[in-house]
Amino acid sequence: MKAILLCAGYATRMYPLTLVKSKNLLQIGGVPMVEHIIEKLNKIPDLDKIFIVSNAKFFDDFDLWAKGKINIVVLNDGSTSDKNRRGAIGDIKFALDNINEDDEFLIIAGDNLFEFDLFDFINFGRKNGITVGIKRIEDIELIKKYSQVLLDDKKRIRYFEEKPQNPVSKDAAILVYYFPKGTLKKYIEEYLNEGKNPDQAGLFIQYLHKIVDVYGFVFQDTWFDIGDINQYHIANFYLLNKKLIEKVGKGEESIFFIAPGRINIIGEHTDYNGGYVFPFAVDKFIYLAIRRNNKKVINFISLQFKDFVSVDIEKIKKTNTWVDYPLGVINVLNEYGYKIDGVDLIFESNIPIGGGLSSSGAIEVITLTGLNHLFDLKIEKAKIPFMCQKAENEFVGARCGIMDQFVITMAEREKAILLNCKNFEYKYIPLKLNDFYFLISSTNVSHSIAQGEYNKRRAECEQGLKILKNFVDIQTISDLKINEFEKYKNKLPDNIRKRIEHVVKENERTLKAGECLIKEDINTLGRLLNESHISLRDLYEVSCKEIEIMREESLKIEGVLGCRITGGGFGGCLISLIHKDYIYDYIKNVGKNYREKTGLIPEFHICQPVDSCSIFKI
Ligand code: GLA
Repeated sequence: MKAILLCAGYATRMYPLTLVKSKNLLQIGGVPMVEHIIEKLNKIPDLDKIFIVSNAKFFDDFDLWAKGKINIVVLNDGSTSDKNRRGAIGDIKFALDNINEDDEFLIIAGDNLFEFDLFDFINFGRKNGITVGIKRIEDIELIKKYSQVLLDDKKRIRYFEEKPQNPVSKDAAILVYYFPKGTLKKYIEEYLNEGKNPDQAGLFIQYLHKIVDVYGFVFQDTWFDIGDINQYHIANFYLLNKKLIEKVGKGEESIFFIAPGRINIIGEHTDYNGGYVFPFAVDKFIYLAIRRNNKKVINFISLQFKDFVSVDIEKIKKTNTWVDYPLGVINVLNEYGYKIDGVDLIFESNIPIGGGLSSSGAIEVITLTGLNHLFDLKIEKAKIPFMCQKAENEFVGARCGIMDQFVITMAEREKAILLNCKNFEYKYIPLKLNDFYFLISSTNVSHSIAQGEYNKRRAECEQGLKILKNFVDIQTISDLKINEFEKYKNKLPDNIRKRIEHVVKENERTLKAGECLIKEDINTLGRLLNESHISLRDLYEVSCKEIEIMREESLKIEGVLGCRITGGGFGGCLISLIHKDYIYDYIKNVGKNYREKTGLIPEFHICQPVDSCSIFKI
């Protein structure tokens, strides 16, 4: 038996997320989506090969992912966009031509996520003939998007309608098919030779059941069709909760929370100097399922780190692991006199760790938001960023500013926040980029010196401030005017002078960037990004070799107006302001050249400005 997984779609409903990454490779429950299906297929003893049909756009990504997986063959269907796609039936035909060997076939859409095993389904198919998976769907509106099926007493399909306008049945066909030897190629060719639609697989079944017996097998277990972002989140929470029960057993109902990562458009290393920052929350997320356990322990589980740590609620102390971020938050709660009880927290994240997108801020804010809700602590939203910053400064030992925790708590969809870190006044500015996007390019390195060097920069700024206060009446470095800096710069030691110059000028650039966005002057914004990067590289000295290679390659791409390192520095991500028509060129060329020059695998993501951390109702 052979399996064909259809993974060549363009998932336009999930744009821009899926503009740079195949939907089937998006991480879900800690692994790429398609691996959940592979896991099920690997349990079938007489399945000898799995063929994955990819498009040309994401073929390299699939190929890389499949390395070392001996029973998987990735096929490139040659299509490059939604406009020239072959369609599901076209892709099955394409796969069959390549396989060129008759056998029994299992066909599965690569965006199905299911709990059921395939044994009973296959046995049923072997006994009866061509078989289609069926799921009972309670939501009538959803049926309209799928298909409706009526089965007779022998489970033969008697009626099949793709995308029914007025559904009468709640049974919908799902793209899990079984074809006995000698059937698939014959019927696909007949169908296509009649000039019928190669795109929707359901139309093929609608045609097929009229010329040959087609059976339906009703699956009882959970099934998700990951068609949009909301379904993607729901599936993630489902798997998270399942893992929680596996690890610590059944208990109270979990409550779910979601928190975004962030990028900073501009205004880097200005926050702890009382300056302006200009971040927005991006659609990279951390997920949390949380519930009371009614014991005196706090259980921390991370799918990402495959880690489970149990802490006695009375004995909180630093662990020097990822747990210090949420634990630090609980420590701050204790210090402030808020009472919490035993609790289970399970996290899953697709925000790269040490990637400059504030995975740390996100885990702090989501922990505090979750605990605040669960134990009804009544902490005002405006206090959350400050409490989280305190946890990171004092418990973790990273002397971060307020930017990350602030934006993750306060962000609004489609907007960036221009925040004055001296008085914490802020305004939302709509992120109208016209045909441009912010593209994140992750170098996939985070240098271990980052935290030490960050704290060192902060100390240098404090030293500089102390010296300058002897000459000018300022409270923070951001109070210093450029002409004042010019006047007193020779009072400062060399490296401190460079740091202060960066902060003073970066602050000006940040305010200008705010005006640019209001005026929709995207070209000037691009120029400011470049100036910011050069200053971070030469004056603040927080860049690194990999970021410079990524940037050099990025600037070669037409349509890139500017790019710079984002976050604390020493690795992590570059952000590029890029015209939508050049994104494909970018990921192809920058991806290839970066890989060749560094031996590292980069990752790309188009940013969507999303809402702040919140509860997620399923
Ligand atoms: C990290 C810190 C922020 C900020 C940036 C640099 O992300 O958490 O507070 O200082 O670096 O701008």
